[in-house]
Amino acid sequence: MTQALDECLSSKQIRRDADSLQHWGVDWTRSFPVAPSAVVFPESTDDVIRLVQLANREGLSLVPSGGRTGLSGGAVASNGEVVVSFDRMNRILDFEPADRLVTCQAGVVTQALQTYAGEQGLFYPVDFASSGSSQIGGNIATNAGGIKVIRYGLTRDWVAGLRVVTGSGALLDCNHGLVKNATGYDLRHLFVGSEGTLGFIVEADIRLTAPPGPQLVMVLGVNRFRDVLAVLGRFQSALTLSAFEFFSELALKKVTAHRELPRPLAEQAAFYALLEFDESAMELALQAFEACVDEGWVQDGVVSQSQAQAANLWQLREGISESIADYTPYKNDLAVRVSQMPDFLDEVDALVQENYPDFEVCWYGHIGDGNLHLNILKPNNLTAETFFQRCHEISPRIFERVAFRNGSISAEHGVGLLKRDFLAYSRSSEELAVMRALKQVLDPGQVMNPGKLLVR
Ligand code: MLT
Ligand code: ZN
Repeated sequence: MTQALDECLSSKQIRRDADSLQHWGVDWTRSFPVAPSAVVFPESTDDVIRLVQLANREGLSLVPSGGRTGLSGGAVASNGEVVVSFDRMNRILDFEPADRLVTCQAGVVTQALQTYAGEQGLFYPVDFASSGSSQIGGNIATNAGGIKVIRYGLTRDWVAGLRVVTGSGALLDCNHGLVKNATGYDLRHLFVGSEGTLGFIVEADIRLTAPPGPQLVMVLGVNRFRDVLAVLGRFQSALTLSAFEFFSELALKKVTAHRELPRPLAEQAAFYALLEFDESAMELALQAFEACVDEGWVQDGVVSQSQAQAANLWQLREGISESIADYTPYKNDLAVRVSQMPDFLDEVDALVQENYPDFEVCWYGHIGDGNLHLNILKPNNLTAETFFQRCHEISPRIFERVAFRNGSISAEHGVGLLKRDFLAYSRSSEELAVMRALKQVLDPGQVMNPGKLLVR
């Protein structure tokens, strides 16, 4: 059936060999079957429109594919779908200094956008460990968060305009980079976080900002989960934080072993908080540190003395995900309001201790945003299938605690295939009905990423 692809793309834009299907048919998840029927590489918006029209005519299913760094299976093709890669739509098209807007194609890699912004004397603040591979279209489709959200917000906050080819093949040009636009529904925001289920993001106008001054990084040892939040409160009342991250001792052990990094502190602690702030706030930060020690929340700390040391301290947090990848982790990406976090942590911790006594559990996350990453590591003696089955059995109990606190079962990784069957823990039946109705309007032929986010 995919022979029809040859009608709208050149042979150089289509691959069907086994290696390509495996390479482009999967994201960073490793627990779903990978079985696309073809991978295509559009080079223009017109190519994308023709593809969508063809898919509607021929009944093809399309899976949008960016840097494939997603963690919830949103870009996995398991059922003979056609993967649509944006690797060849990777140009920065325009920059307007007066607007501080850069227009780029969906396949521009996040780091390339950051570098480009720097070359203009500006700053693109959305950042995460996968910024060297992830693409801006995928970031928008998942409303990517990362390590600077506490100061700069999520990808959504930087999208000033969006061009989208909907599932029916219509080209929508949303918001045109305007700051103010009070003309009704802001359609751009429908596509942010839509996980490729409503249409293809083909171009975006991204807002840039002034770069911050030099930054310092501090790592603190904290022995009680709750105290990590107390430390956050103390620092936030004194200064503006650019980041407030945390990780557990097990996470530190994994990352220091994997990257051969020195431990940050002489003494071992149960948890570590990593803070980043403007160098100009150094005095205030030291006062806050001393207050935290006096309260008994913090045992020890280190502050970066050079950019190289700051980068090394950041590796302790940013390298965790990669360092545990070989353990086929079962990933939970949970959010509650920051104010709810201390009680929520106690509840989740109790559930984990009760249900996973034989598994290694790795905690880390963007705790300053109320976002907790709970990773259960697969023991060697279990198959991935058995392990995931066991985790899936226990997850509902964690999700019940999330739902009780009106939290989210996916803070920043998206729903994809991994969380799809659990969406009702975070979305009411009324909301799900509206989501389905929107899908029907924008993708009536159900060609866009079928089976992701919403149950078919
Ligand atoms: C992170 O915070 O490191 C990323 O979200 C990736 C992950 O959770 O593994
Ligand atoms: Zn994260």
